[in-house]
Amino acid sequence: MPGDDVSKILVSEDDIKVRVLELAEEISENYKNESFVLVGVLKGAFIFLSDLVKSIKSRCSIDFIVTSSYGLTGTSFSGKVKLLKDISQPIKGKNVIVVDDILDTGSTLNFVLEHLSSYEPKSLEICTLLSKPDRRRINIDAKYVGFTIPDEFVVGYGLGYNEEYRNLPYVGVLKEEIWKVRA
Ligand code: IMP
Ligand code: MG
Repeated sequence: MPGDDVSKILVSEDDIKVRVLELAEEISENYKNESFVLVGVLKGAFIFLSDLVKSIKSRCSIDFIVTSSYGLTGTSFSGKVKLLKDISQPIKGKNVIVVDDILDTGSTLNFVLEHLSSYEPKSLEICTLLSKPDRRRINIDAKYVGFTIPDEFVVGYGLGYNEEYRNLPYVGVLKEEIWKVRA
């Protein structure tokens, strides 16, 4: 079972539920009178975005962007990001919130922000479930952050390793022997 490869649960299912609801309420309050577009960064954001949007009360639409990282091997990341799939609706003059699973070095969200800025949205904010500030290489200002976590490789609630573990309902630390062996 995938849960056997997790050494400890960092954020429990219950903690995630409570925090996601808080974030949804904060966003709903900030966009009481204006609509916005939620842009999920696939694949990592798929569960977070689904849960978040169910509790958002404001008028909003959903879109997705798919990125891939060049030279992503195991748990290390080269920092070069490629666009695999763009959003499918115009966002010029609209409020946009980018939803991602984790803000790590910052390369992915920096790339996504630069890309979406070129479409001239009215506003552009970030909502990330997790943030690992110790690993940051590019300074990114995220308005909505679920949990700040230490520098450990985590899986679950959408986050994967070699495309597995995304279905775990919590965020857990992947046992070192798993990524050390396969990396
Ligand atoms: P960035 O370094 O912020 O650009 O993140 C690089 C990519 O690695 C993103 O797609 C993240 O979703 C992913 N990533 C970063 N840290 C972790 C982790 O601890 N577990 C799973 N994926 C991660
Ligand atoms: Mg991601």
